[in-house]
Amino acid sequence: MKLVVSALSAGYGNSRVVHDITLMVGPGEIVALLGANGAGKTTILRALSGIIPRAGSIRLDDREMIDVSARDIVRAGVVHVPQGRGTFGGLTVGENLSATQTGSVVREAELRDKVCRLFPILRERWTQPAGELSGGEQQMLAVARALMLEPRILMLDEPSLGLAPLIRIELFETIRAIAADGIGVLLIEQNADLSLKIASQALLLSHGRVVASGRPDEIAGSGIIEEAYLNHAG
Ligand SMILES: Nc1ncnc2c1ncn2[C@@H]1O[C@H](COP(=O)(O)OP(=O)(O)OP(=O)(O)O)[C@@H](O)[C@H]1O
Ligand SMILES: [Mg+2]
Repeated sequence: MKLVVSALSAGYGNSRVVHDITLMVGPGEIVALLGANGAGKTTILRALSGIIPRAGSIRLDDREMIDVSARDIVRAGVVHVPQGRGTFGGLTVGENLSATQTGSVVREAELRDKVCRLFPILRERWTQPAGELSGGEQQMLAVARALMLEPRILMLDEPSLGLAPLIRIELFETIRAIAADGIGVLLIEQNADLSLKIASQALLLSHGRVVASGRPDEIAGSGIIEEAYLNHAG
């Protein structure tokens, strides 16, 4: 499934925060969305998930999704793991992973096996409340929950936030494995170096607009990343 976004604008109430966004995520691709704090990265994911007002075009293959409800966007295969962890702290790991869209017990068991192969630690923590997991484990659980919905496009908002360097690298390897399975990944990261290593395409956002896009090797080394982050700070 291919996600093709063009002329997308979105914001909160009457204020538009992101403007004229163009991006594309194909099956198995990892597209990195980079930019300083407040650049509008999270806003783009919220717009694509249908939870804030938006205009322009969001196409999934041949289907226009701009007016489709958040619920139907998930049903269509676009799943968002929000910034901060989207897990239920009072429920066990197993309970967090019990919701699927299929309604099929067999399919659910297959999916659970699959996410446990990607994140073996979750099987070990199966009966523990999610709230008692470490930060990194909760992050993995959040991604695993999203995978239970069988996404075709997975949108991750800073999944490695607060993780120790080794765990972060492990998570990035898992993201790579998820993409290798044919899922398109739209990845927000503060750590440009790491995400450019696994990305097939990258977009650099500044003040709500795309200021550069291309292959990671075109973006890195151009000095434009540093500039976008510095401009913001200054
Ligand atoms: N719920 C909201 N209501 C009003 N304005 C908001 C809301 N959320 C974000 N904004 C504004 O939108 C702009 C972009 O915010 P956004 O969260 O998209 O940035 P970001 O690139 O994800 O930043 P960060 O790296 O800090 O997560 C900011 O100026 C912010 O103040
Ligand atoms: Mg954000």
